[in-house]
Order: sequence, then C-alpha cells, then structure tokens
Amino acid sequence: MTGKFKFRAVLAAAVVAVASAGALAPAEARTPPPGTNIVGGTTASTAQVPWMIALNNSRSSSPVGQYCGATLVKANKIVTAAHCMGQAMSTYTAIQGRDNLNSTTGGKTSKISKIWKDPLYGRAAGHDVAVLTLATPFTGVATLPLETSRAADAVGARPTTYGYGETEGTGPANRLQKVVVPVLGDAYCRSVYASYDYVANGEICAGYKAGGKDSCQGDSGGPLVLNGRLFGVVSWGIGCADAGNPGVYAEVASYAAALTTQINN
Ligand code: ARG
Repeated sequence: MTGKFKFRAVLAAAVVAVASAGALAPAEARTPPPGTNIVGGTTASTAQVPWMIALNNSRSSSPVGQYCGATLVKANKIVTAAHCMGQAMSTYTAIQGRDNLNSTTGGKTSKISKIWKDPLYGRAAGHDVAVLTLATPFTGVATLPLETSRAADAVGARPTTYGYGETEGTGPANRLQKVVVPVLGDAYCRSVYASYDYVANGEICAGYKAGGKDSCQGDSGGPLVLNGRLFGVVSWGIGCADAGNPGVYAEVASYAAALTTQINN
C-alpha cells in the first residue's frame, strides 16, 4: 500500500498526460489545456451559489491561474480536496463571487493562512479532504453546512456539482459551470473501478452510466451539493464524462467529525 502511493507520487507529472492509463486515484490536481470545466453542464452564477470558491494557484498551467474548487463553510474556512494541496501555501488564492476567471476583478479574494489535510490521505483509500483557513475572512457571505448523514449517499439522489474546470469543449473555459450528477451507488463504482481504490465508506459514485455529464480536471476540491448541504468534494475519475467511468467524490459525512473539528478551531 505505502509503496504503491510512493510510486504514484513519482509518476504524478507524467500521468497528467495519460490520466486514463494509470492506476492513479485520486489523480493529481491539474488544469485544463487551453480550449479544452465541468463537461456537459450549464453556466452558473455565484450570486446563486455564494459559497462556491475558486481556489486559484500561481503555479497552475492555466493562464488565468485556475486550479481547483472549494466551498465556504465558515467566514474563514473552506473545504477542498487534499490532492489539491500539493503547492506551497503562499501560491494559493481563494476567490469568491467571481463567475468568470478570465476577469481579474469582482468578488472577494483571500490568501490562505493555514492548511489541514486529512492525515490519512495517501496512506489509505479515500480521505481526499482538506480544510483551509482564509487570511481575510469572507464575512457576510452565505456558507454551506456539511452533510453529516451517510444515509444521504443513496442511489437515485440528484446532487449538483460546480466548477471552473475542464469542459472538453462543451462550455466556455474558466466560467462557473454546474451539472446534476445522480448517485449511482457504491456497488457500481466498486465494480467499474475494481482496479482502483474506490472506498464505499468515504466516497460517492455519481454521474451517468452512459457518460456525457461529469466533473473534470480543475473541478477537484469543488462542491457536490444535495439538499442545501455539502454532500461531496470532487475527487477523481478516469477521463471525464466517459461511459462506465463516473465521477468519484469524497463523502463529506464520512469525514464530518474531523472536518467540523477543523472548521471550529
Ligand atoms: N482529479 C481532478 C482534478 O484534480 C478531478 C477529476 C474529476 N473527474 C471526473 N471524471 N469526475 O481536478
């Protein structure tokens, strides 16, 4: 187990180019090649989803710095994916209330003053969650509560995911997109991702068996929202929107106790 993860870390850069080929789960955070966000979605407005955060990074390969998503859960706390935290703390900027990342103005921005990554991330399957502290709190902005019940992860539930990532040509680049991705259930992902590390108590399997709509590269760390709560965090998939390869989301309820401790301190 440990050896496998070390192997992955060494290969991470190379795997960017061949995301569908390797046993890389979760994949490293990576950003869209030019011209190529959420796949099969529609344009969304941060006015409707004020807790949506663009987690930009100055070392991103994206010209506009697009890197990952996150969710505002307290005035000074955002939840994102652990695998988005591979860069130095000073290179990140959290942006709230900006629909179009091609613009450098609008909304609120903050640097990050503290990073908590789930200590089991990379040592056990799942655990792809992190809590970041904002140096400049987004005071007065609506926050999203965490889902705390694992029963929410039920086949047929219809959560929505949001992001500024890769659209594979199905939408404008760097603009907030949203898409409904029905819960397919743990058994389905355990089966289609048998050679990967899908974990039922810790991950949510969501999307379409036939493909077409999905989260994608650059959406990682962003929210999967159900019933007005943060249900999941965009984590990994093999390719994007391909038949038989749905999206995998960190299951917030599985980690709610640890996340809440971090959010409150
Ligand atoms: N690992 C990707 C990222 O870093 C997210 C991939 C989600 N993939 C999917 N097919 N749903 O942005």
